[in-house]
Amino acid sequence: MTERVLEGKVALITGAGRGIGRAVALGYAREGASLALCSRTKKELAATEKAVAELGAASLMQTCDVSREKDVERFVGRAIETFGRIDVLVNNAGVAHRPVALVELAPEEWDRVLATNLRGAWLVARAVIPHMVRQRRGSVINVSSWLGRDALVGYGAYGVSKWGLEGLTRYLALELKSARVRVNSVSPGYVATRMTDYRGSKPENVVDLLVYLASDASAGLTGQQLDVETWKRDLRVRRK
Ligand SMILES: NC(=O)c1ccc[n+]([C@@H]2O[C@H](COP(=O)([O-])OP(=O)(O)OC[C@H]3O[C@@H](n4cnc5c(N)ncnc54)[C@H](OP(=O)(O)O)[C@@H]3O)[C@@H](O)[C@H]2O)c1
Repeated sequence: MTERVLEGKVALITGAGRGIGRAVALGYAREGASLALCSRTKKELAATEKAVAELGAASLMQTCDVSREKDVERFVGRAIETFGRIDVLVNNAGVAHRPVALVELAPEEWDRVLATNLRGAWLVARAVIPHMVRQRRGSVINVSSWLGRDALVGYGAYGVSKWGLEGLTRYLALELKSARVRVNSVSPGYVATRMTDYRGSKPENVVDLLVYLASDASAGLTGQQLDVETWKRDLRVRRK
């Protein structure tokens, strides 16, 4: 049997009910991690939890809106009560918006997108990181986008939220380096999920990179923006 690279690790994944978050939860379960999973839709979350249990992984699920401080504190508190530690945080929960010019975007829509994609990631990081600092190890993975490095007409609020997430990644990485807590971001490419009306590559395509970032194989790597396709290409070249 091959070694399971996340054996003994506890990973907390937001937005695990469907799409990329669900694929990562299953990938981590296969690699031996225990999981704390959240999203707002109980039915989807329960389906992920069942699939994870079938792979033999210990898990807890909790409905949680990452933009709400109390929800986040309750979820992270339960994860610590249950598992005693958190080794990996995947800030994956995210929302998009219909294409609209920034000047025509309703302020409520701006607030909704920024509240989940940026404030949410920060709130969860803020609740989890003190435990990682106490452990003197941890890996935070922020699921970003190429729109966090570039711009596309009509996707301003989403893009700004991901540029913010890249900034959050850099700042946290810098502030936490001496505590041995690593913080990196991932750009998944165009993935077939509800967010893209199921167009793009399979969500499973992103799993290898997220397993790598969660595992000790990426020890020392921090403050980086990694792109799934570039990483896979580089890996193929290194293996030749
Ligand atoms: N698909 C792509 O091509 C693509 C490309 C680049 C980046 N991304 C990023 O990848 C991440 C996952 O997206 P996806 O494509 O897998 O979309 P998805 O299928 O719509 O999944 C999003 C997940 O996030 C959860 N979520 C949304 N708002 C939340 C909130 N306030 N609190 C807690 N959970 C919340 C959703 O569940 P509930 O609605 O039930 O809460 C769902 O489980 C996002 O950050 C997205 O920006 C996706």
